[in-house]
Amino acid sequence: KSILLLNGPNLNLLGTREPSIYGSTTLPDVIASAESQCASKSITFSHLQSNHEGVLVDRIHEARGQVDAVIINPGALTHTSVAIRDALLGCELPFVEVHISNVHARESFRHHSYLSDKAEAVICGLGVYGYEAAIEYASRSIVPKAR
Ligand code: DQA
Repeated sequence: KSILLLNGPNLNLLGTREPSIYGSTTLPDVIASAESQCASKSITFSHLQSNHEGVLVDRIHEARGQVDAVIINPGALTHTSVAIRDALLGCELPFVEVHISNVHARESFRHHSYLSDKAEAVICGLGVYGYEAAIEYASRSIVPKAR
């Protein structure tokens, strides 16, 4: 099995950015935990963080037929990006949407996601534990594709 973890804009600031909302764990901490979690389950793991929508779209295209599941925290692109939605659907990649914060308890512009209705699952408000939960879920439920 293989998993691609994608993080969108501003998630490189994790740990220093609005810690009362996003906590003090850094992105390198999240990635290190995800790597060891996947290694312990013999899952191939890859990761990209980008502040650029097109870079994320290109990485999704590259993942077509190469990974079994995508775990994505699109950051603010959640609320704006038809392009990321279309890329995930066009590449037939099952995905889990993760938000560190409870977006529904925040500004109303964060209540709508361009991805949620197509996601296998949506996790929000669990803090960075949401990434671990998503990997656990993906490892149990996502069926590897014959390639
Ligand atoms: C976020 C929530 C988004 O609304 C916000 O723009 C982010 C992070 C989260 O993880 O809680 O950048 O996706």
